[in-house]
Amino acid sequence: MEKETGYLHAKGFFNEFNASSYDNIVKFTTFGQDHVWKKKILKMIPKKGFVLDLACGTGILTSLLQDKGHVTFGIDLTYGYLKILKTKRRGLFCVNGIAEVLPFKNNYFDYVVSSYLPKYANLIHLVDECFRVLKGGGKVVFHDFIFPNRVVFRKLWKFYFKILKRAGRYIKSWNNVFNKLDSFIMNSGWYSNLPEILFNKGFTNITSESITFETAAVISAKKP
Ligand SMILES: C[S@@+](CC[C@H](N)C(=O)[O-])C[C@H]1O[C@@H](n2cnc3c(N)ncnc32)[C@H](O)[C@@H]1O
Repeated sequence: MEKETGYLHAKGFFNEFNASSYDNIVKFTTFGQDHVWKKKILKMIPKKGFVLDLACGTGILTSLLQDKGHVTFGIDLTYGYLKILKTKRRGLFCVNGIAEVLPFKNNYFDYVVSSYLPKYANLIHLVDECFRVLKGGGKVVFHDFIFPNRVVFRKLWKFYFKILKRAGRYIKSWNNVFNKLDSFIMNSGWYSNLPEILFNKGFTNITSESITFETAAVISAKKP
């Protein structure tokens, strides 16, 4: 996905009008899987440390990280989402900015994580920045939606989005997202491109796993 396309989609999708309903929308539209996926990310970073949550949004994952005892930082493009995070949590350092240009010093974090970012991001700049801010031995974990490979899962996936688009007619602030998310996911090459970009940057121990009927995936890697 081109940087500008992803950035423009993110700008069009997330705003102050849908920020307050985001937590409920993500819970219901993923049938609770969002929580399962975020728990999986937590399991992949077992030791307490300094963690950066990229595209932290309203702070669902960020809050779970803080509850686990990590020293937690967040960054997000959408100010309205960060305002919601601030009403929910104190003691979280969060900043309004983009994941491709991080306002943090080199070798600072034990972990960099993100949920639903890679399809919007310029992956080369993103990986460069993750590598820069991670300590040696640090780990990066990316999670996002994918378009399933298997025919039967694809059929179910397409049916699901048909229903979501209908629902969007009645939920104005999410109408744009529900209408465009399917084709955006289908056209995103994040899952196939990211492992090679991580490898080229010098990351090691790269893992890649599709989950929940191939509707989402998690990729992790270690900075040597
Ligand atoms: C679906 S929300 C996910 C929020 C949060 N990670 C979660 O799991 O609930 C996607 C978020 O990505 C943010 N975003 C998209 N592109 C970004 C970028 N390049 N840098 C920082 N944030 C970005 C949006 O502002 C939005 O808050």
